[in-house]
Amino acid sequence: MYGMVNQGVRAFIVEYFGQRDWSEICQSVGLSDDEFEAMATYPDAVTYDLVKTISAKYDMPASQVLEVFGTFWVDYSGQTAIGQLLRFGGNDLLERLDGLNELHERIKLSMPHLKPPSFDFVELAENVFSLRYFSDREGLESMVMGLVRGLSEQTGQAIELTQDETPAVSDARASFTIRLQE
Ligand code: HEM
Repeated sequence: MYGMVNQGVRAFIVEYFGQRDWSEICQSVGLSDDEFEAMATYPDAVTYDLVKTISAKYDMPASQVLEVFGTFWVDYSGQTAIGQLLRFGGNDLLERLDGLNELHERIKLSMPHLKPPSFDFVELAENVFSLRYFSDREGLESMVMGLVRGLSEQTGQAIELTQDETPAVSDARASFTIRLQE
């Protein structure tokens, strides 16, 4: 994944736990703590190792680490130059959810090696939607939960969010039901 993601993990740890913890995490993973360049690509294993190490250090399930990081990422990436693209996706939560593929396609113009996830966003009933998540990568479903919560906080649109027990379509990694709160 692009270094920008690992830089986000670093910013997340430094903000919540401090620089010393980040240095310890880097030591466990075998990285120097100024390792990442935003626009360079790193093996996915580096990101997964970071998540595993953070999960063990704070005694949190990896799914919880990913969820909290996902929420953090919305604000963090929004502050970067490339993250400004999020605003072009519309001001409204539904427009942003509907625009996730286009957002990552635009990012790909600056990050040609990007292997973005893709999403189908479907209206099921009035104020009830299904978000289907497709990816070559395993185990990041909880991050999507956190990202969607982050978008909901950012746009001020309250939601009830649940991950479906089985994906709504068989080739999706996961699907989520989103109910807009009045
Ligand atoms: C402007 C804001 C955003 C930026 C700059 C951004 C950028 C990125 C980048 C660089 C990656 C790594 C992929 C790679 O290096 O191959 C990624 C992955 C990912 N993005 Fe975004 N993203 C943004 C917003 C979002 C939002 C709002 C969602 C909401 C669901 C999302 C969902 C994901 C997921 C789930 C992945 C993990 C990779 C996978 O599932 O295969 N992103 N994104």
